[in-house]
Amino acid sequence: MRRMIIAGNWKMNGDRDLVRRIAERCSGAGVDGVDLLVCPPFPLLPAMAEQAPAGVALGAQDVSEYASGAYTGEVSTAMLVEAGCRYVLVGHSERRALFGDSNSRVAAKFAAAKGAGLIPVLCVGETLEERDADRTETVVAEQLDAVFDACGADAFREAVIAYEPVWAIGTGRNATPEQAQAVHAFIRKRVADRDAGVADSLPILYGGSMKPDNAETLLSCPDVDGGLIGGASLDPEAFLAIHACARPGG
Ligand code: PGA
Repeated sequence: MRRMIIAGNWKMNGDRDLVRRIAERCSGAGVDGVDLLVCPPFPLLPAMAEQAPAGVALGAQDVSEYASGAYTGEVSTAMLVEAGCRYVLVGHSERRALFGDSNSRVAAKFAAAKGAGLIPVLCVGETLEERDADRTETVVAEQLDAVFDACGADAFREAVIAYEPVWAIGTGRNATPEQAQAVHAFIRKRVADRDAGVADSLPILYGGSMKPDNAETLLSCPDVDGGLIGGASLDPEAFLAIHACARPGG
């Protein structure tokens, strides 16, 4: 049975007070088979590493594809490991759309994360125009194939995929469970075509306006193995309410 992961992506939000409140609220919140992951901004990672209760994993929101050197403003995989991270998001749609992360750059970040022993959370998803033009599967396939080509299917053995339709992120308009399930099944099949064993154990999270009132139906889809939550992860009560909706095995 696949584990479920409920992940909070704080984006450029939060402060030490939120670290304290989330850490307190997550304490003792464990649900068997459901992992909690918190991805605050870089400067808050050490505080979260210090305060996070057992069972709450730490992740970063991005990483450099380079190991070290003259890359002003960048943060390396080794720095994330030292800060206590176990996970790192790569290819979030905001990085792709606003900061020029191409498919090949995302693949290089994925490879760097794997090389450092971090678990990459590869974010994929289509824009509204792409969905309307019936290009969802093509776009998601290209995003996945860039990583397959650079790293091989085996690299997905210790990795996570997050399907995040761009039109659902921060808009309050979530994908329906049917829409989410269809793309998640497509992703799993695409991975299974390369390696069925890897596909079977690969957690595929849904992201895009997941809230306590829509989490239960989204999380009960057979190929939805958790959520990547933006806005609602900034409210400890909402984040934990979503976590309480997750049941291992769908
Ligand atoms: P949202 O963001 O939950 O605020 O839509 C999700 C994400 O971008 O990871």
